[in-house]
Amino acid sequence: AILASSLTSISVAASSNWSIEDDYTASWSRQQAEKVALTEETTAPIIDLDFEDVAPDVWVWDTWPLQNRDGSLANVKGYRIAFALVAPRTYTWHDRHTEARIGMFYSKNGKDWTYAGIPYDYDNALGHMQWAGSAMLDEKGKVHFFYTATSDMNANGGKEFNQDGWVQRAEQRLAKTTFDISADKNGVHLTNEGDHQILLEADGHHYETIEQFQEHGNIITGFRDPFFFKDPNTGEEYIIWEGQAGTNRNDIKPENIGDKEYRESHNVPDHAKFYNGNIGIAKVLDNDVTKLEILPPLLESVGVNHQLERPHVVVKDDTYYLLTISHEFTFAPGLTGPDGLYGFVGEGSLRTDYKPVNGTGLVVANPAEKPFQAYSWWAAPDGQVISFINEPVDENGQVKFGGTFAPTLKVSFDGDKTKIVKEMQAGEIKPFGPYGRSLK
Ligand code: FRU
Repeated sequence: AILASSLTSISVAASSNWSIEDDYTASWSRQQAEKVALTEETTAPIIDLDFEDVAPDVWVWDTWPLQNRDGSLANVKGYRIAFALVAPRTYTWHDRHTEARIGMFYSKNGKDWTYAGIPYDYDNALGHMQWAGSAMLDEKGKVHFFYTATSDMNANGGKEFNQDGWVQRAEQRLAKTTFDISADKNGVHLTNEGDHQILLEADGHHYETIEQFQEHGNIITGFRDPFFFKDPNTGEEYIIWEGQAGTNRNDIKPENIGDKEYRESHNVPDHAKFYNGNIGIAKVLDNDVTKLEILPPLLESVGVNHQLERPHVVVKDDTYYLLTISHEFTFAPGLTGPDGLYGFVGEGSLRTDYKPVNGTGLVVANPAEKPFQAYSWWAAPDGQVISFINEPVDENGQVKFGGTFAPTLKVSFDGDKTKIVKEMQAGEIKPFGPYGRSLK
């Protein structure tokens, strides 16, 4: 049963999908999250520990390709282009987040990648560091470079104490710049760097601000990972991102718990209310993607999971798959699940009553014996899933830090089911078509 979150949505609840402006937010409930489990279809193969470093001088993690406006893979004079978070290996693996920048990679065959350094002047970039984003090549040849402008996590000692315990302070805002792009026999070049501008900040209502977080927050707040998405069914454009519930949505509501029967027998642990992840959305109002209208979140995991990271969308005809990465350690008390790519499926429109795919919600899970081997999976419109090697363990349980591209996986999407169908090479990206279509 659908539990509408406001009066406006009750009036249209019968259709089970909503117009994007409606104040309806789907819930990943505690009842649903109890069903998270590894299955053969969704467990990733074990990654060989004998991997190569794509860029030996830098740690490499969250990765995304340059896409055309319609979602297809950009092709610039025969080159494919990817961006990834990078930090010099002089920083420890764990300190890399605090000095993250966005590096560029290019490849002619989509398998052998050349690291081309950081394409922007980081004195001009916003934030102390730049976290994940997305990149779109428009019809005039401009690269729209979306990223998260994040404040210095080490400022004032980095951590602070609130009623919930120690938390990490890092303010995040959605930002962008632009470039011209060219390619020749020496590779791909981004030139004519534009101004860096803030696109969006948390509003406090639907999305938690840093001040709200300081009062009642947990772990770290989230207003990050802008993903550009053009809906193939409507032609409308959006930015979606990882948020946290603001004042309007911060309490655990019945739909965050489960159906009536479940609620009668289920005790929500007290501390669960501090786990308040959501997936934010804003409508793009102009062709240059500089004006955004903030909208209620598409999905929330209040009382269930603190982080719905790097959200993105795969569309097949009228079926929408809302995908997001999450961690074992960000599940609320009383719940658990692996580090993995989680998926929610709904019909008819981007704002819909999303339900966990496969019954479990998992699309790609790390195998039980290697629970942290990879992370930050990102699915292309055709189901190719890239990720990075994170912290695999050897047979003695010793961690080998990754920091490089993991083998790509191919995932099939069929109704409310998904399945890992193939393992490809490390970092491999084959050309893919616009949203809703794959290239044969
Ligand atoms: C996911 C993530 C992103 C963030 C980045 C910071 O791996 O947490 O949400 O942008 O890493 O390093």
